[in-house]
Amino acid sequence: MNKHQAKERIAKLKDLINDYRYHYHVLNESIMSEAAADSLKHELARLEEQFPDLITPDSPTQRVAGGILPGFTEVRHRQRMLSLSDVFDRSEVEAWLARITKILPDASFEFFTDIKMDGLACALIYNDGILERGITRGDGFSGEDVTANVRTMESIPLSLRYSKQFAKFNQGITEVRGEIVMYKADFERINEQRSKEGLPLFANPRNTAAGTIRQLDPSLVAGRKLHFRAYDLLRENPADVPTNEYAYKVLAGLGFLTNPMASVFKSLDEVVKFANVWEEKRHSLEFNTDGLVIKINDRETYERLGVVGKAPRAAVAYKYAAEQATTRVRDILVSIGRTGVATPVAVLEPVQIAGTKVQMATLHNDSEIHRKDIRIGDSVIVHKAGDIIPEIVQSLPQLRTGKEKAFIMPENCPDCNQPLSKQKAEDVAWRCLNSACPSRAWKLIQHYASKEAMDIEGLGEKNVIALLDANLINDAADLYKLKAEQLLKLERFADISANKLVDAIQAQRHPSLPRFIYGLGIRHIGAQTAIDLSNYFRSIEALMDASVDELSTVNGVGEVVAESVVEYFAEPRNRKLINKFKDQGVWPKNVSHLGGRLSGSSFVITGTLSNMSREAAAERIRALGGTFQSSVGKDTTYLVVGEKPGNSKIVRANELDTKIIDEEQLLAIID
Ligand code: IVH
Repeated sequence: MNKHQAKERIAKLKDLINDYRYHYHVLNESIMSEAAADSLKHELARLEEQFPDLITPDSPTQRVAGGILPGFTEVRHRQRMLSLSDVFDRSEVEAWLARITKILPDASFEFFTDIKMDGLACALIYNDGILERGITRGDGFSGEDVTANVRTMESIPLSLRYSKQFAKFNQGITEVRGEIVMYKADFERINEQRSKEGLPLFANPRNTAAGTIRQLDPSLVAGRKLHFRAYDLLRENPADVPTNEYAYKVLAGLGFLTNPMASVFKSLDEVVKFANVWEEKRHSLEFNTDGLVIKINDRETYERLGVVGKAPRAAVAYKYAAEQATTRVRDILVSIGRTGVATPVAVLEPVQIAGTKVQMATLHNDSEIHRKDIRIGDSVIVHKAGDIIPEIVQSLPQLRTGKEKAFIMPENCPDCNQPLSKQKAEDVAWRCLNSACPSRAWKLIQHYASKEAMDIEGLGEKNVIALLDANLINDAADLYKLKAEQLLKLERFADISANKLVDAIQAQRHPSLPRFIYGLGIRHIGAQTAIDLSNYFRSIEALMDASVDELSTVNGVGEVVAESVVEYFAEPRNRKLINKFKDQGVWPKNVSHLGGRLSGSSFVITGTLSNMSREAAAERIRALGGTFQSSVGKDTTYLVVGEKPGNSKIVRANELDTKIIDEEQLLAIID
């Protein structure tokens, strides 16, 4: 980017970030996620680094936080309220430990670890056990006196609970610090109500909690449910609280809510494991969290390590990776899936999101692109969480230069040049109906080899394409004819890998029926539907001859799936493929009718089981001759109810008089 372009980009970034801040802090609304705004600020800071003379005093990068609002009395904190420095991954936690080890080489460190709550910090002063004052963080040295407001909060004791064990905390000054949070459910209820009343919606629970505690009318605070969760305990004599672990014990004894999962660990390995567990489980908490707080447990060591800037050396915030970032759309391509659907895919400027490099995002279909107004060249917000495929949340038209281009769905398939069409006028998806389209061939073969189908290791995208290009295969059935010598002629294979691949393929001459059905890549047939079909039809021949009516009677199979199966087997090309498998002696094992203690019984599970996974239970049931179904029907014998069950299945089971059992009863049956 040259200086002129940078100047224009900087001006637009500043406008958009300021707009975000105005909506967020003044109007209490959100035009994008905090992570997306951070990503824009990051880009701005990078550009300013590159062109320092373009920095202006009004740039969002030049802002210092804090400050006192008019309307509340300013109170000095007895001890400064510090914040935490952030670390983002294991190596940064290790670097932190190395730093403090260097300062105190002889100390041995224990780590006290808690969830980092996303709310606002508050200090409560108790004098001889009586709540005297509540103070916000402010600039860390002094905050706002919000005593009248915190007194309305039920989770804050107006006087400390007395116990003999902790009696001394009822004498003199005891300061309790913690986080004021609004629970996600309460936040959603408030916004639902506001939406009904036509009021603007609040941005998020933290913002709403902060706005609430700063209301000058305490009755408004009482009406909004806020919760105080304690994390720190201060006394004039520091020896009263020797460790952070002990602080939590006392806090609970004095009548405060603390996080029950807070724990002490001896090694960073354990801390990182704890972090990973909570990163996964965090959405199940009642409040928002964006990471962990890791503190040195021993308070004397904690104090000895001192302070740098605004943060203690002895503690860090371990932040989970943000699930959103901004980047640019370089191009929009069309990819043909194994069932012929044409899916537009955005090619992105590579960006790190939640720990992975993202350079592609699905755009689903052209109507979605137009609804979201995404153009080639646009800046966009990309979302990626867990295992989900990255998605474009929205475009940022404010950052356009005028050179962006609208996407137009091509009329012909990019791979075989046959026209793309819609099967029904109301369909959103365009598809390539040419079943010989080369794009479909490799995807079908790759799907046949995939983990949930034949699970053939070594048959990824590149190898499948190489085999097709070399004319060694045309379809999945040809895989079984491959010889190691043929593979060795290709650049991609060495002795070992060629033999390994041929062995892996040959090992799958008699796959299970559900895997085989799933592997055919019939539209709408996922792994579970393939199991439902197998349980009912028990052989591929029976499935091939089934009518839509018969298929529709199978549990878990609706009309769309039924039609798709019939359509698939009506296509001569597909029947030929099945015959080709058969001619080579490749055939799925039938599901047997006979034998098995559970033959004739069928099971549905709702909710999660605590002793085994749903898949393991299904496998065990099938091994005993029983049937595992995905939904309750007339032929269901048992509905097994686990934790957090779905209501609809229970209602249906009651309607049909299906026997309802719990996990223990299931174990008794299958053990
Ligand atoms: S301990 C030096 N524990 O995060 C501050 N803080 O960025 C040590 N926070 O000011 C604080 N959950 O408002 C601690 N379990 C927790 C926390 C927590 C949220 C907040 C707190 C603090 C900020 C630091």
